[in-house]
Amino acid sequence: MSEKTGLREDLRSEVGALVASDAPDEAVLNEVVRRVHEAHPVWDWSGIYLLVGDTLVLGPRTAPVDHSRIGVGEGVCGTAVSEDRNQVVEDVREVENYLACSIHTRSELVVLIKDSDKIVGEFDIDSDTVGAFRREDEALLEEMGLLISGRVASLAASYGSS
Ligand code: SME
Repeated sequence: MSEKTGLREDLRSEVGALVASDAPDEAVLNEVVRRVHEAHPVWDWSGIYLLVGDTLVLGPRTAPVDHSRIGVGEGVCGTAVSEDRNQVVEDVREVENYLACSIHTRSELVVLIKDSDKIVGEFDIDSDTVGAFRREDEALLEEMGLLISGRVASLAASYGSS
């Protein structure tokens, strides 16, 4: 088994166990973000935005940032929802509608999280390195998204009602 396949299998079983635990949604998703982030040294910020109505609301993340609410269609994050498509940005300096959370960020990966085919949120990952993200990173987050989508939907619903 390659190192990367091993990492993916470890994360899959850890995240599966967290999702199946009795812990509240926020605690589970905080831990998922932390573990996925720590497994990737070149990722400098990781978070999950929850889709609440027409707004992406920042949920679990590795550090606070300015853009805690993003409208659908705005920035890289909102574009992922309006186009129903993951976003892989090689160099954020070339994206016109990019919303900067850190002046150091150079590349960004957004992977949609769907529950029964409905977008409930997204992973957003920033790196200070140009072109940090590969297809295998997107695939890993797609897989994690499938595991956590029920928890994300439930947390998004609780944000919507508060
Ligand atoms: N860059 C994002 C905003 C979120 S921060 O990167 C955490 C965007 O353009 O939507």
